[in-house]
Amino acid sequence: VKLDLTYTVIQAHDQPGDKSLPEQGGVLQLKKANFNRALRKHKQLLSSCHYAPLSAEGPHVSAAFEGAAAELQGSEVKLAVIDVTKEKDLAKDLNATGPPTIRLYIDGDKQNPVPCPVPQTSASILTWLKRRAGSAADIITDSQSEALEELTVVGFFKDLDQASIQVFYSAAIDLPDINFVVTQNNEVISKYGLTHDVVLLLKKSELIQAYKMTSQTSKEELIIFITVYQMEPVTEYTGETVTQILTSPVLNHALLFVNKSSADISEIYSAFKSAAEAFRLKILFVLVNVDEPRNGRLMEYFRVRDFEAPLIRLVNLTDHVSYHLPSDTLDVDTIKTFCQSYLEGKAKPKMQSEPIPEGWDKKPVKELVGMTLEKVTFNPDKTVFVLFYLPYSRESRALFPLWEELAEAFKEQEDVVVARIDASANDINMSMQRSYPSLCLFPALHAERVVVYTGNRKLKDLVKFIEKEMEKAKKERIKVSRLTGVTV
Ligand SMILES: *[C@@H]1O[C@H](CO)[C@@H](O)[C@H](O)[C@H]1NC(C)=O
Ligand SMILES: *[C@@H]1O[C@H](CO)[C@@H](O)[C@H](O)[C@H]1NC(C)=O
Ligand SMILES: *[C@@H]1O[C@H](CO)[C@@H](O)[C@H](O)[C@H]1NC(C)=O
Ligand SMILES: *[C@@H]1O[C@H](CO)[C@@H](O)[C@H](O)[C@H]1NC(C)=O
Repeated sequence: VKLDLTYTVIQAHDQPGDKSLPEQGGVLQLKKANFNRALRKHKQLLSSCHYAPLSAEGPHVSAAFEGAAAELQGSEVKLAVIDVTKEKDLAKDLNATGPPTIRLYIDGDKQNPVPCPVPQTSASILTWLKRRAGSAADIITDSQSEALEELTVVGFFKDLDQASIQVFYSAAIDLPDINFVVTQNNEVISKYGLTHDVVLLLKKSELIQAYKMTSQTSKEELIIFITVYQMEPVTEYTGETVTQILTSPVLNHALLFVNKSSADISEIYSAFKSAAEAFRLKILFVLVNVDEPRNGRLMEYFRVRDFEAPLIRLVNLTDHVSYHLPSDTLDVDTIKTFCQSYLEGKAKPKMQSEPIPEGWDKKPVKELVGMTLEKVTFNPDKTVFVLFYLPYSRESRALFPLWEELAEAFKEQEDVVVARIDASANDINMSMQRSYPSLCLFPALHAERVVVYTGNRKLKDLVKFIEKEMEKAKKERIKVSRLTGVTV
């Protein structure tokens, strides 16, 4: 994300006695001291609150504002920006501490601004203002519809006075980046073999999807239909698509973290896409390429590491809870079942840590969770051998009997702990560049050290390994004690 400095490095010229409001590129630069004055002076004041300069939409909005300001010169609409990172009092006064970030103040009314959708371009702003003012869509004829280049929403209504056309118009206002047209031309509709009160989504005159409106259809439903079908079933997360993804009214997202250069990509992608087609309008499917360094921040947010790919996360953008697909096969059925269980509220969220199980340290193999992992493993008096497993993976489960045997073998030794942890349900907060199952030994040292076991998965080899590591740790402790004078 590029920082936009034009708005953060503002020269404020609003000195006492100077009655002109500070401007840059035709856009007012407002703060607490001059906001009310601007409100009184301009019949329509479209103001944008800038939050962190890192916000994804920052640069778009700034360019759109400057472009629109040039077009609107001499009109009754004035554009303004407020840097709310500095103007905290004003933001509070305007109740602008959260979205929407762009509001239109009309006739000096500070209390009831109209929220404006985040514009992609200056044309978005101009279209929004025009549609708000009453020309939400233009009546077109059949011949014009043939020439449509881009995505167009065509509403076919028999009677232009009915209520559903009002719903159609209000959707058009909220989606200023999309062409909307209304037609009563029967030829248009018969061409697609449809009836009245239908909304068609056309791209280059090709029908993508049709939507039948009823008297019950709400603006929100219509907007979801348009914004969903305007996108492909699967959208790759990139700088170009991020705004579209984050402003989608679909608030359930399925994210596939995958290496696009990996050998099995086409198989996984096609499974993901088939599932996407089954859940359109309900879940937005997004592909995240883990081989793209620019996706690092997103992966950090979801705590996904590249070696864990491919994996799928579902996220509820309403409460920001994420869910991990519990499977090591990503086929259509698995993905669909997971999505369905999520929508039915049956999926288990991914947690930092599971609760500590009762009697976790009573059995031979200790049951660790995120909360207890570091406390138990980094113990200078104990050698701790941990199996990091995935409960749904056959390879992981195959190691359970071996781990029981190992624990049994060291039953009498208080300084050896054999443990395991479910790596799918707990966030493992250690940098282990390994896939699961992973066998890790934590030596009895005053240092946070991990030794990954890569030898034979046989009892006698494991026992030998533990004994060797204990011997090494002992020597090291003696060396350290000679240096520091601390007895071991
Ligand atoms: C302030 O914003 C909150 C949340 O968006 C809203 O519920 C509330 O009505 C707003 N208050 C005013 C005075 O606009
Ligand atoms: C993605 O796969 C390619 C080809 O196998 C490999 O060279 C690359 O290192 C992988 N990237 C990551 C982040 O794993
Ligand atoms: C998403 O979170 C909201 C708020 O907690 C909740 O009402 C909704 O049911 C959740 N959606 C799903 C599919 O779990
Ligand atoms: C993970 O490790 C970091 C750095 O050591 C620490 O700040 C953070 O609190 C840890 N998180 C959990 C859940 O233990």
